[in-house]
Amino acid sequence: MCGIVGYVGKQNAVPILMEGLHRLEYRGYDSAGLAVAGRSGLRVCRREGRVRELEAALPSRLRGSPGIGHTRWATHGEPSDANAHPHTDPDGRIAVVHNGIIENAATLRARLEGAGQVFRSETDTEVLAHLIAAEDPGPLEARVRAALARVEGTFGVAILDADQPEAIVVARNGSPVILGIGAKEMFVASDVAALVRHTRQVVHLDDGELAVVRADGFQTFALGGSEAEPLAKNPLTVSWGHEALERGEHPHFMHKEIFEQPEACERTLRGRLDRRFQTSHLGGLELSPRELLEIRRIKILGCGSAYYAGQMGAHLIETLTRLPADAEPASEFRYRNPVIEKDCLYVVVSQSGETFDTLAAVQEVRRKGGRVLGIVNAVGSTIARECDGGIYLHAGPEVAVVSTKTFTSTTLAFALLALHLGRIRDLGPDEGRRLMDALERIPEQISEILEGDDEIREVAGWLANHRSVFYVGRTRGHPVAREGAQKLKEISYIHAEAYPASELKHGPLALVTPETPTVVVLPRDGLFEKNLSSIEEIRARRGPIVAVTHPDAEGLASRADHLLTVPRSEPELDPLLLGIPLQLLAYHAAVALERDVDQPRNLAKSVTVE
Ligand code: G6P
Repeated sequence: MCGIVGYVGKQNAVPILMEGLHRLEYRGYDSAGLAVAGRSGLRVCRREGRVRELEAALPSRLRGSPGIGHTRWATHGEPSDANAHPHTDPDGRIAVVHNGIIENAATLRARLEGAGQVFRSETDTEVLAHLIAAEDPGPLEARVRAALARVEGTFGVAILDADQPEAIVVARNGSPVILGIGAKEMFVASDVAALVRHTRQVVHLDDGELAVVRADGFQTFALGGSEAEPLAKNPLTVSWGHEALERGEHPHFMHKEIFEQPEACERTLRGRLDRRFQTSHLGGLELSPRELLEIRRIKILGCGSAYYAGQMGAHLIETLTRLPADAEPASEFRYRNPVIEKDCLYVVVSQSGETFDTLAAVQEVRRKGGRVLGIVNAVGSTIARECDGGIYLHAGPEVAVVSTKTFTSTTLAFALLALHLGRIRDLGPDEGRRLMDALERIPEQISEILEGDDEIREVAGWLANHRSVFYVGRTRGHPVAREGAQKLKEISYIHAEAYPASELKHGPLALVTPETPTVVVLPRDGLFEKNLSSIEEIRARRGPIVAVTHPDAEGLASRADHLLTVPRSEPELDPLLLGIPLQLLAYHAAVALERDVDQPRNLAKSVTVE
């Protein structure tokens, strides 16, 4: 959501912080700021708006080290200069950047105001700066520890002290904090994206930890433990470099990420198809075949597009394993006191591995003794570390707020899981081979679809003239429709709603008019005829139709206003390909409407608060 970056070393922190903030902007982008330690104390600059607006406002002679920076997605207090981080204590000696929410901020603030302190923002973070400054003099880490003991809620914080300008103190509870190890310099961030230009050696703090970060290294302690007992931490190596974060010649990151899908899918599949036994090899599951055999049900959890990918996964698993499988939004699941069964396998999906509600769902399942697998893109992320096992997507970093390549890679990961579970059960070797052959063709087939980009752009130009669009699909085509509608509404702001095609006459038909197009997901499968009758229902109300279908789908040319075709895979895997034109459709509609494609209004890449 919000992004934190920090630097301590001999260089001037300002350009390093600014570069880091640009990298983190996809996380939150309504205001930004930084603080650096200089000879005359701390200097702070903050601005409402994008990072480029902060850049324009920086005094040209601003220099210093250490420094901390922040890009914000507002929770407490509207976006404004005053509410932008860093926040300081009344004397400007302590500066704090913070991700998360301090739940008892109002009570703490009232107490401090009662003691005569004056606040300059509406944020919960300013309370923390006041609290730290009010602690007895001493090392910054001791004052931070004491102040955080009064705080309820979640935080990832980085703190600078004008009187201790050789260190940054960071702490974590529910919001990521990562240290980057350089040569006689150290970096701090809430996301590896802000670090990889400088180092690939990183250390993830765990919840309840605090670190004192100096140019020559760091020490980590338990927040509730003793300062005499540093904790041992193992650095991880990030497998991709900062080039992966460059937009290159693509007009938007979303465009780049759509076109990276063949490669991303290859990476998700790499080394995971086992020809000898016609199954998949998934090294991170941490479950023996015996344990897998004992599973009686699969429950998939995620938020947003991750949830829709989970619905695609549920269809795949249920079809190939004949185990009951369903997906539910993690945000709903965690609040309904769910029944946890010991023979149910819980699978959570998260690109970032940091979505708060998804993490809370993992914790709820594990607290009750359930077993959780994670399908995650970000290596070393909180969700990946809290799960019992899992599958990494290896899709590479995704920068656009809306997910495209990780959605497709997640569906592929589900196909691998379904194949694995299926082959342990009743799926025969011929079936295994049929699916493996189809999986291997997927990257090339996606490339083929992407070649039809110009044609899709034309349809998108037409679609962009409408105020409302329906998306329909049947059974495994329904999550394709849901994700297609989600993409369109997120980035073009055109109202889009998805329905199972079978539900059309139970409501949505009332709104079908010549002004309301319907995008129909129409594979040439056993339900093709049924889907044709849905088209007839729409046509009878003179609703325009965009059909996403297979080249050999007869009888459609005369019935649909626009046809978008994808190559055939095996029926179970068709949804994966049918979703690709819908990404391009949303992308080009948003471009036609001159929307901010990569950073749509009010949304954030990863939602790390409740
Ligand atoms: C936000 C993003 C979505 C994403 C969802 C889940 O809402 O805007 O694109 O699907 O979070 O994120 P995750 O990182 O858990 O997959």
